[in-house]
Amino acid sequence: MSIQILGTGAYVPERILTNDDLSRLVDTSDEWITQRVGVKERHVSFDESAAEMGAKAAQRALEAAGITADQLDLIVGATVSADAVCPSVAALVQREIGASCPAFDVNSACSGFLFALDTAAAFVARGGIRYALVLGAERLSRIVDWTDRSTCVIFGDGSGAFVISPGENYLASHLHTQGSDSVLSIPLGKGNSPFYGKEEQPIAIRMSGQETFKFAVKQIVSDLKLIAEQAGVTPEQFDYIVPHQANLRIIDLAARRLGIPIEKFVVNLDRFGNTSSASVPISFDELARSGKLKKGDLIAMCAFGGGLSSAASLIRW
Ligand code: UT7
Repeated sequence: MSIQILGTGAYVPERILTNDDLSRLVDTSDEWITQRVGVKERHVSFDESAAEMGAKAAQRALEAAGITADQLDLIVGATVSADAVCPSVAALVQREIGASCPAFDVNSACSGFLFALDTAAAFVARGGIRYALVLGAERLSRIVDWTDRSTCVIFGDGSGAFVISPGENYLASHLHTQGSDSVLSIPLGKGNSPFYGKEEQPIAIRMSGQETFKFAVKQIVSDLKLIAEQAGVTPEQFDYIVPHQANLRIIDLAARRLGIPIEKFVVNLDRFGNTSSASVPISFDELARSGKLKKGDLIAMCAFGGGLSSAASLIRW
């Protein structure tokens, strides 16, 4: 038993932070960010948590699917920027939308949404699930180091969600983990523990940009080739690719290595920046609502990030 996507939804907070706004916070410029990353602006939350944003995307996905929250049998969430380690974002979304099904998060950083989708697909395959909600929700602005120009210019806040049900449209998926905390990590504080032997790391996204960049390009290329092979097609046959929105140069390089025109890649990082686990479902939702999709289109999704992790999935629309 495979799955189908019944509806998608996305939400970003109202407040927009432009590159010019950022150049008043750190030593950077619109020109540098545009050329090296491709982001022009991102949305930041003042008062909404990741779970509150997740609930708004979930409501939109439920409306698009034509079902109500009480019909959900499962909620799987993904986040690295929840207000708390516990409860999970999925549990708070469950309360917010008025669902009563089991709800839990998976943690695989920016690849988290595709790990969550594959987890939900496995539950559907086990049987007994009619409708499941999968979401990525991030308030990265609360864990970004706003004094570090090499990371604070990249990220943004937002959420995206899918409602799925049993179907035959999930053609292939691949999950990859290469355990490491030296390239990309978000340490937690030590609290007031008197038994903590190590030096405390400040709570913030810590990233080696170039190492992450190389990992990203390598994994997009190999993961997309792998899912194409699993489905018995070639990457050139993909109608659209929905990539994690981290850096336009990453997408461009991967597209050239795969020999796929860049126009097939959905790109919105200029408006939203990198919203971690929310970036794939936000981008997919834009594509789904654009009116461009035709029945039968092959849509690949791919993501990479902390873990280190990467993932790709192939959907037939
Ligand atoms: O979702 C998580 C996945 N994350 C990613 O995919 C991130 C992947 N990596 C990247 O996108 C890029 O590596 C960055 C955007 C993070 C950095 O771009 P880069 O071209 O790799 O720059 P760099 O780190 O090699 O730095 C080049 C120069 C340095 O100056 P010097 O040492 O050459 O004088 C940096 O200090 O650019 C400087 N720099 C900046 N200058 C202006 C770094 N950040 C900035 C900035 N504005 N915001």
